[in-house]
Amino acid sequence: MGDWLGMSWRTRRNIPWNTHRSWSSAAVRASGWASLAGLLADGANVTIAARSADRLAAAERELGAGERLRTIVTDVSQEGQVERLFASTGPVDHIVCTAVDAVGAYQPIRRLDLTSIQKLVNAKLYGALLIAKHGTARGSITYTSGIAAYRPAAGGSVVAAVNGALGSLAAARSRSSWPRSG
Ligand SMILES: NC(=O)c1ccc[n+]([C@@H]2O[C@H](COP(=O)([O-])OP(=O)(O)OC[C@H]3O[C@@H](n4cnc5c(N)ncnc54)[C@H](OP(=O)(O)O)[C@@H]3O)[C@@H](O)[C@H]2O)c1
Repeated sequence: MGDWLGMSWRTRRNIPWNTHRSWSSAAVRASGWASLAGLLADGANVTIAARSADRLAAAERELGAGERLRTIVTDVSQEGQVERLFASTGPVDHIVCTAVDAVGAYQPIRRLDLTSIQKLVNAKLYGALLIAKHGTARGSITYTSGIAAYRPAAGGSVVAAVNGALGSLAAARSRSSWPRSG
């Protein structure tokens, strides 16, 4: 199964995740948790990263995978922290990025608060760019967009815009020479 790095995948119990020798952050909470548990059951080494040390510790306790699960407190919008994360993991097989901070982001446009918008963009878009810049994956990097990019809900303009930008980033990366010249 190799080495996975997962960035910020919160479970249905609100436990965040991010992984290391093969994985990163995206998807639905319950399925994300099930996928992580499945990877560990198949023998993968996984590192998960998020901002909350308490939730990472809870994930470690819950998963009980011993040395095959590492957790690293990381804010993916902070370049120094992303650099330290990848310096700690070294090259991994797969990176999955699910980091999102969408608190307050679903609002009618006239009620939007700039700080909430910035938190969403910082975690989901700048975080993805920093992971592309500093992360080295032998296999793949997966980002998580969302149906909101294509079928926005009421009050979902900002989420739609950020998800759409993430899709464009993935398209651009897929056309760039591997690993990071684009
Ligand atoms: N749930 C859905 O129905 C749904 C639908 C479509 C798309 N998606 C997308 O799927 C992905 C995962 O969604 P989710 O529902 O699992 O989200 P979630 O439950 O809110 O979990 C987000 C995770 O991101 C972490 N995080 C937030 N800001 C961060 C930062 N700056 N640096 C590092 N970690 C950060 C959070 O942990 P900390 O707070 O501890 O950092 C948390 O673990 C997101 O991209 C979301 O937009 C979800």
